[in-house]
Amino acid sequence: MKILSKSNNELLLLAMKDDSASKGDYLLVENGSKSIIVQVYDEEYLTSQSLFEDIVREEVVNASSLERDCDPLNIGSLSRLVRDARIFRSKIRAAVNNGQLTSNVSWLPSRVESKIRRLTIKELDSLLGRTGIYPIPLGRAGDQEFFEIFAEDLDGKLSIITGKKESGKSHLSKLLVKTLVQHGAFVVVFDLNNEYAGIKWNRDGSPSAIHDKVFILEPGKGLRFSMNYCGKEAVSGMLRNALDMPAASLREFFRIWDWLDNKGTLDITALGNTVNTWNINELVRDALVSRYHTIQSSRLFTDSGGFRFEDVIKSSNGAAMIINMGESSGTTRRMTVELVLSKIVNLLERKEIPPIFLFAEEAHLYIRETYWEDIITRMRHFGVYTTFITNQPDAINDGIYRQVDNIFLFNFTNDSDLDKISKVSLADSDTIRSIVRTLPQRSCLAIGKAVRDLPMVLKVAPSEVLTLGETKKFFKS
Ligand SMILES: Nc1ncnc2c1ncn2[C@@H]1O[C@H](COP(=O)(O)OP(=O)(O)OP(=O)(O)O)[C@@H](O)[C@H]1O
Ligand SMILES: [Mg+2]
Repeated sequence: MKILSKSNNELLLLAMKDDSASKGDYLLVENGSKSIIVQVYDEEYLTSQSLFEDIVREEVVNASSLERDCDPLNIGSLSRLVRDARIFRSKIRAAVNNGQLTSNVSWLPSRVESKIRRLTIKELDSLLGRTGIYPIPLGRAGDQEFFEIFAEDLDGKLSIITGKKESGKSHLSKLLVKTLVQHGAFVVVFDLNNEYAGIKWNRDGSPSAIHDKVFILEPGKGLRFSMNYCGKEAVSGMLRNALDMPAASLREFFRIWDWLDNKGTLDITALGNTVNTWNINELVRDALVSRYHTIQSSRLFTDSGGFRFEDVIKSSNGAAMIINMGESSGTTRRMTVELVLSKIVNLLERKEIPPIFLFAEEAHLYIRETYWEDIITRMRHFGVYTTFITNQPDAINDGIYRQVDNIFLFNFTNDSDLDKISKVSLADSDTIRSIVRTLPQRSCLAIGKAVRDLPMVLKVAPSEVLTLGETKKFFKS
């Protein structure tokens, strides 16, 4: 390979027949003691007017003469080589000066003397100093090399996994959840397809390595709370945000709550009785009664026992609490999410639990858009580190993208999705457009802190645990 030209941070490389590189590969352009690191993002033919004419001329000659050309100097094969020459478009990502990585690329490598070779993931990692204590093996990258990120890169961070339908997003997210739990982390998953439960089992039906650390919680069944445990703040947040309770009714609700609390009879039955007999305006009573019935039918509250996050967390070294919302109604989902998030923040505030990793599938279906940014900013501060999984990049608003640390980008072919993601993401839009459009299934482009801001293409490994969540089909193949 040879350098052909450079404009801004783009380097065009001339490749002959035997030179090979795939989109996403890293190359090292060595020039004496200095070198630069470039990433290939597109491949095209060498184009010039004279080449076109050449190709046309040969086709015309071939078509019109039956005799073999006399070509004693073998010029034909040379010209064929030229016609097969390709150009790799690459982006300059960093420079290496005396073994040190710098982002300052203020010099031009020599066209004649530079040597270009492929960089292995191992070399790249050692240049970037990408190491950690808690590895998360993800699959293969580059030339079938083993690839891992580190749990530290998700710790305290906001991540997004996005890509079109069936591209492998949930698969990657299950892999992350499983490994985080193996490292002793506490993970809460908002699961819309009841598919994460599969991490409890291996493919062959035997219990998985984290079998005893997976808690499947279904709203109204395994997941029920006592009023007292939730607290006034969480319940009023639920009434306001999930059940659209007007302010006047909310004030009356506070009064009822305080009265019951003072009497020491704060439970769901007593609340129902009091709402019916409390001396209030009939409109306010209607508002309260209708909310009360919704709460009753969600079965989220119970007067005896109830789920306690801190009990699970204290009894286990790492746990996945999977909230199976596949069969819940939209309202129950919103109520559940509201209660769970407020309670977790409350426990974190009181330092009763360690930081929590939160995985939210298609969060726009149960959290209002205006409310998200607040959740993200506030919760990160308290110690809730979120990963969003979605196939609609435009469902996540720009304010969230601006705070994102890691993006795992699967294939998108739709132009408007590509537009959105290339505008807001942490890498340049040429790279994203060109690489993401042609990513095969189950491969993704990792961008952000986990790869030290050098975008990497990786093929996600198959999983040893059961991956539920396939779309149900009528016609069986
Ligand atoms: N790396 C992989 N190796 C083997 N199988 C995979 C891999 N990634 C995904 N799959 C399989 O491909 C199918 C689709 O994957 P997955 O459910 O993760 O897609 P998705 O992007 O979450 O789709 P959706 O948008 O419908 O939620 C699943 O059956 C899953 O088991
Ligand atoms: Mg999915």
